[in-house]
Amino acid sequence: MSINIAVLGSQWGDEGKGKIVDLLTPHFSAVARYQGGHNAGHTVYVQGRKFVLHLVPSGILHPGVTCVIGNGVVIDPQALFGEIEQLERTGVKVDGRLLISEKAHLILPYHRELDVLSEARRGERKIGTTSRGIGPAYEDKIGRRGIRVCDLFGDRAALEEEVRENVSARNRIIRDSTLDWRPVVEDLLAHGERMRAWVGDVSVFLAGLMRDGRPVLFEGAQATLLDIDHGTYPFVTSSNASVGGVCTGLGVPPRAIGGVLGVAKAYTTRVGEGPLPTELHGEEADRLRESGQEYGASTGRPRRCGWYDAVVVRYSARINGLDALALTKLDVLDGLPEVRLCTGYRTPQGTLTEFPADLRALALAEPVYERLPGWSVPTRGITRLEELPAEARRYIERLEEASGVECAIVSTGSDRGETIVKPASTVAGWLGR
Ligand code: IMP
Repeated sequence: MSINIAVLGSQWGDEGKGKIVDLLTPHFSAVARYQGGHNAGHTVYVQGRKFVLHLVPSGILHPGVTCVIGNGVVIDPQALFGEIEQLERTGVKVDGRLLISEKAHLILPYHRELDVLSEARRGERKIGTTSRGIGPAYEDKIGRRGIRVCDLFGDRAALEEEVRENVSARNRIIRDSTLDWRPVVEDLLAHGERMRAWVGDVSVFLAGLMRDGRPVLFEGAQATLLDIDHGTYPFVTSSNASVGGVCTGLGVPPRAIGGVLGVAKAYTTRVGEGPLPTELHGEEADRLRESGQEYGASTGRPRRCGWYDAVVVRYSARINGLDALALTKLDVLDGLPEVRLCTGYRTPQGTLTEFPADLRALALAEPVYERLPGWSVPTRGITRLEELPAEARRYIERLEEASGVECAIVSTGSDRGETIVKPASTVAGWLGR
């Protein structure tokens, strides 16, 4: 197989992309992250051991695979080194396997402060960010005053001037604050030295691999409904988590993307503020949260939980051109007497079947549910479609019809092995099965 594929989130994040990327990685030469930062939390279980990755691509758990951090990613050097040290401590070799784009922008300590401050200023209208400084770092990038990885190896005087300007702007925003720019520069330079051996031209590297027919997996973080352009703005992250981000965030042409796999949970979750049309409250929500262990991998925050929303996934399928879905956490629904999926939104103006741009329209929307019988036989650990209880298969079929995309992978547990790859599906074709 020499097709490059993108794996990305189809809902509001935390769909289990880490597990799916980890599962597919043996078929690829490189795994490349194209956006986001250490706001992401990709949890991967390997033989009962839990790994949580934030910035380093999930492919790192497979020796021999190169992991790429693209120019579209924002890097907090301290978080990066912390994660690398943690991985090395658990026996995962990172050195020599990581390539960091020289064009990636850096998250500086004052970005974190500004993130927290901006949230406090918004009060009740807060976004519920991960407080990692992601938004302010992307603001500096778009404002053309960001510090890039390559700046750490260039003209020191130019770096000093840029940091001095940025720090004095920050001192004007944060009252009674007189942060000194000098230690910021010293820290940056020290981080640069540590990073130097891993820094390079990602676009050249990926083009070389592709020319040699060695496939690349493009790994998305966050998700389509958190995309700065296509998500539930302003309750979004500050990057393009949808497929467009692959080209801009790695310097690869659109034709390099041979397939797109969307990851979706068999229900819906969201962490942070903003609309979630199928949200459940009380006991039903608690049941999903506990059974699915729905707590943020980065921040530990409890996730909001609701039924599967086919309007959302249909929207993601269109925006990203999804070829197939990887449906995760089916086993979390085990034992429910009934399962529901949302096929449209009822509003005073009629039923919406397309995801609206205006959040006020969404606030007035009532989900239209289709109710299906649940299953009492556990699906946990099942690896063949035909072994699933008939009700679970029926649920998947209806979910595929309503979402307009085939479920080529069904995950029935957190471990690599607890997975169904549908025979004769798009993904089976990609993997040459
Ligand atoms: P930020 O990316 O920290 O600015 O947060 C913006 C929004 O994206 C908030 O609602 C976060 O909870 C959400 N978010 C950011 N990263 C993730 C993630 O990896 N999973 C789920 N939600 C996320």
